[in-house]
Amino acid sequence: MTTTITLVQGDITRQSVDAIVNAANSSLLGGGGVDGAIHRRGGPAILEECRKLRASRYGRGLPTGRAVATTAGRLDARWVVHTVGPVYSEQEDRSDLLASCYRESLRVADELGARTVAFPAVSTGVYRWPMADAARIALGTVRSTPTSVEEIRFVLFDDRAYEAFARAKSEGD
Ligand code: AR6
Repeated sequence: MTTTITLVQGDITRQSVDAIVNAANSSLLGGGGVDGAIHRRGGPAILEECRKLRASRYGRGLPTGRAVATTAGRLDARWVVHTVGPVYSEQEDRSDLLASCYRESLRVADELGARTVAFPAVSTGVYRWPMADAARIALGTVRSTPTSVEEIRFVLFDDRAYEAFARAKSEGD
């Protein structure tokens, strides 16, 4: 099975895919950016499952670089895969943790049997990761991760993000 990587500019909450990846934080209890938009549009069922995860498997929160699935509530998707990106640091190279978000999200998507998965540019908003570098890590990681997912769709919010991903994608082609 070959995996197709596509890039689109837009709002990830509007995507019709099996699984939408959320750029969450360890608390799993919501926030701004993609996280806020997913909970707003998906409704309270998502938060309800997140609370249950905190009360059971992830009492201390979801560690950075890991991923876990919940319902997608009212979104046009079956699941939301929550992953926690690293906060960007100039002192410490945290690239492995960012790569891990993509690998772990794909692993969870495979476990679910998802065929189509939408990713945001994890860590490039509140967590301040430089876009070009984040794009290179995201594309390099999904290309080198074995998966049964048929389409990996990066949903980039603005021109700048889209262009950075398009450039990184053409460099790897
Ligand atoms: N669709 C697609 N991309 C979006 C959308 C959207 N609806 N909204 C924002 N982006 P961020 P992070 C872009 O901040 O950096 C939250 O508070 C945005 O322009 O959502 O991983 C969480 O709770 C940026 O390029 O995620 C955490 O506390 C990218 O998505 C923290 O932010 C990621 O920005 C996570 O920070």
